[in-house]
Amino acid sequence: MRILKHWIDGASIASATELRSVVTGPLDRRPVAEVPRGSVEMTHQAVASARSAFPTWRDLAPVVRGRLCGELARELRRRSDEFVDVEVSETGKLAGEMRGGVQTSADYFEYYGGVVRALFGETISLGAEDRAFTTRDPYGVVAMITPWNGPLTQASRGLGAALAAGNTVVVKPSEFTSSSTVMLAQLASEIGFPPGVLNVVLGTGPEAGAVLIEHPDVRLIAFTGSVETGRHIAKVAAERLVPAILELGGKSANIVFDDADLDRALQSALTITVGAGQQCAALSRLLVQSRIYDAFVERIGHAMALQVPGERLAPMTTEGQFEKVIEYFAIASREGARLVTGGHPVSGPLSAGRYVEPTVYADVTPGMRIFREEIFGPVLAVTAFDDEEDAIRLANDSDFGLVASVWTNDGARALRVASRVDSGQVTVNGGRTGIETPFGGFKSSGLGREKGFESLLHYTQLKTTVVSLR
Ligand code: NAI
Ligand code: MG
Repeated sequence: MRILKHWIDGASIASATELRSVVTGPLDRRPVAEVPRGSVEMTHQAVASARSAFPTWRDLAPVVRGRLCGELARELRRRSDEFVDVEVSETGKLAGEMRGGVQTSADYFEYYGGVVRALFGETISLGAEDRAFTTRDPYGVVAMITPWNGPLTQASRGLGAALAAGNTVVVKPSEFTSSSTVMLAQLASEIGFPPGVLNVVLGTGPEAGAVLIEHPDVRLIAFTGSVETGRHIAKVAAERLVPAILELGGKSANIVFDDADLDRALQSALTITVGAGQQCAALSRLLVQSRIYDAFVERIGHAMALQVPGERLAPMTTEGQFEKVIEYFAIASREGARLVTGGHPVSGPLSAGRYVEPTVYADVTPGMRIFREEIFGPVLAVTAFDDEEDAIRLANDSDFGLVASVWTNDGARALRVASRVDSGQVTVNGGRTGIETPFGGFKSSGLGREKGFESLLHYTQLKTTVVSLR
């Protein structure tokens, strides 16, 4: 069992007075880590360290900060196996998924370490007697709060941009999956990030997270997690008048027209099994045109049933999440959705872990909770639509708007639908996204954007300087 400590000012720190809790792993519910529950004292120390590291870090040339980020990317790749093992033990993700996750994490540092060198301001023409120009200044101390479904990738996504831009950071990872974030900060210190530039404070939401976001020296809050907590954080940020970047949930639509490449569309529907559906961007609503509906539902049912838990399907990361998905199975059957496959926790030897069956419900209507609410499990809700108008209406009948996917071989229709779907990202015929593509939500799915060059703009504030030449 790993005994975790905070990482503050480039060193491992524990508090004698803090309570600690034991995290049990999703694969077999055995203890994997002992984690501090958090305290005001430790959280304040972390912010103080980030604050005092800020001026020196800000004043470095971007190329110097960028090189350190690049070095961190190389070390992450070199030590990928260690990170994969730890992350698998706490999140339950398949090793293959997690190997990709470590590479993506390294990509973030590599990308932002490079593009920060192209973060320029502008000059503004005011005539011969004055010169005006803008610069992109870092905020100072950033508080970053991350969830349990992608601890390393989600921390790296924000950290790459925030650090390259010249901010210093206090990260509070989820209390269920803290280890990889501590390892990352330790690695950063080892390769030469100055003490205090990247701190990790451990603990629960109320005991550490709440203290962190309320701290007067925190100048920007970056949060990934549930809508409920995001809404609370937005209120705190409003009261303090600091910006908040919020990456929240989704109930994203995958729209399949009858002229689409159905084999590829089927593969995209199966991505609900990635991370066992514990992904904000999961395509959890499948909308299928009526002419092909029955046949496609049958195919997706068969294909999902082949996603064997433990081999091709990860468990639920937390006990709370496991119980939540089981509760949605009961809700779905009460509300009269047609169960095509799955719908139960996994029995037999694997029941030592938090496994649920890959699940498909068909004939789901917009009034049902499984159409409207984020389940965050390997559960597809399938609904038929008649025509283009109907598809757009159903896709947009949601409080969320994170991503959407459209499948059709009619190019004009693809673009019409893509332009009318209310979501921060739309893929057409399986278009693949990258580090370069901004990501974030419309409606209740969030505020602001992560990824892409856009993210650097969010982690900086614009300053205008005007010089008199007289
Ligand atoms: P959560 O949103 O409560 O937790 C995310 C992070 O926020 C954790 O680090 C947590 O410690 C922190 N936090 C919680 N309360 C806080 C507070 N008052 N102040 C500051 N930080 C606080 O998510 P939770 O409760 O773990 O999961 C509940 C549901 O949220 C899941 O079933 C899932 O549906 C959804 N979820 C969605 C995610 C996404 O990426 N869209 C990620 C994680 C959860
Ligand atoms: Mg919560």
